[in-house]
Amino acid sequence: MIELRHVSFERDDRLILDDVSWHVRDREHWAIVGANGAGKTTLLQLVCGALWPTSGEVYVLDRHYGEVDLRELRKRIGWFSAALEQRVSPGDLARNLVVSGKFASIGLQFDRPTSADYHRADELLDFMGCAAVARQAFATLSQGERQKVLLCRALMPRPDLLILDEPCTGLDLASRERLLESIEKLGRDPHGPTLLLVTHHIEEIVPVVARTLLLKAGRIAAQGPKDEVLRGPVLSAALGVTVHVRRARDRFWVRLHD
Ligand SMILES: Nc1ncnc2c1ncn2[C@@H]1O[C@H](COP(=O)(O)OP(=O)(O)OP(=O)(O)O)[C@@H](O)[C@H]1O
Ligand SMILES: [Mg+2]
Repeated sequence: MIELRHVSFERDDRLILDDVSWHVRDREHWAIVGANGAGKTTLLQLVCGALWPTSGEVYVLDRHYGEVDLRELRKRIGWFSAALEQRVSPGDLARNLVVSGKFASIGLQFDRPTSADYHRADELLDFMGCAAVARQAFATLSQGERQKVLLCRALMPRPDLLILDEPCTGLDLASRERLLESIEKLGRDPHGPTLLLVTHHIEEIVPVVARTLLLKAGRIAAQGPKDEVLRGPVLSAALGVTVHVRRARDRFWVRLHD
């Protein structure tokens, strides 16, 4: 699905990613963790072809970047972050917003969706438990509903790879749990996409996301099965604060060292 070989990325004489090698197999879901500025978003922008590495090689969906039509490839990659919300027109109906994902736009403009497109949008909203708000204007939705609707939008074109960059930002506890349940369900769907989940809160790494990549200042501090990476000493060294990690209900919970 993804292979980065000795990838480095430099900007203004600063090494933002340094010799990153990472291999993601099909339907192998990963969490990406690291302090602010560690390079997580930059790494994902390299994966979706929005940035070009200074050195090293990037293969995504079995294609070598440099030998492929990026626009075609990007259609197979969904991107969801809470920040997308700022680009939505408040009057857009939830259902139309979901449908617009097919055209890689945010809200319907000159696109011509078919009845099958609307049918798929309704199915997705139903899957996320949002069928009741399908005909509501985006501005009238709760924060959690907005995030789920945008997640449906990202799923509309049936991406092979879905990037979730801090999807739970701004959610209250109950809404966060419901969104995480949807992500877990998506991860278990045999026809669903491979998930890359960026988060600062390791308890958001749902059971189906079995692997973790830990970045520290642009370098890989650890990667592999999450029970090897999400350990107190490993996380403490990468995050610059001493933490204890506890495992409960198939998730990992962090507490600061007393
Ligand atoms: N175009 C750019 N020019 C200069 N520096 C940049 C550029 N893009 C990113 N950086 C720097 O690269 C570092 C990594 O940024 P990135 O956004 O990848 O971090 P992140 O791990 O996603 O952090 P956060 O958790 O805060 O979202 C940051 O220090 C940032 O300031
Ligand atoms: Mg980021």
